[in-house]
Amino acid sequence: MRIKTTILFSLIASLGLASMAFAAEDGRSLAFDKKKGNCLACHAIPGDPKAEAAGNIGPPLVNMKQRFPDRAKLRAQIWDATVANPNSVMPPFGRNKILTEKEIDLVTDYVQGL
Ligand code: HEC
Repeated sequence: MRIKTTILFSLIASLGLASMAFAAEDGRSLAFDKKKGNCLACHAIPGDPKAEAAGNIGPPLVNMKQRFPDRAKLRAQIWDATVANPNSVMPPFGRNKILTEKEIDLVTDYVQGL
């Protein structure tokens, strides 16, 4: 019985990890997709080997957890960059409905992991 419970718990735990990894993967494809986030047009992502041919219009997305410990602030930046900087060239992904709320959550998770 004990063993079964342990197996069950590790199964649940690995499923949880798998879905987290999947969410990060999803956030990444949204960030890379030219018709969606297109973040690479302006940002380098040095921590992600898959992020090639990036632009340098915006700052590189590195050390995000240290620089944005508050997830809500990071999300707000992606939702509408013009709140922090009225002259921002970064598209207001949430305000202009370029990304759905769910997609912004996924991109935020991906970026926060960088
Ligand atoms: C058209 C260019 C452009 C695109 C596309 C763009 N950004 Fe930005 N981003 C900027 C610029 C420029 C800044 C610098 C601050 C400002 O001017 O708003 C910035 C700032 C940021 C910041 C704050 C970084 C810091 O160091 O303070 C984050 C986080 C960010 N962008 C994430 C994203 C994500 C995620 C995407 C894709 C969903 C994206 N950006 C797409 C131009 C862009």
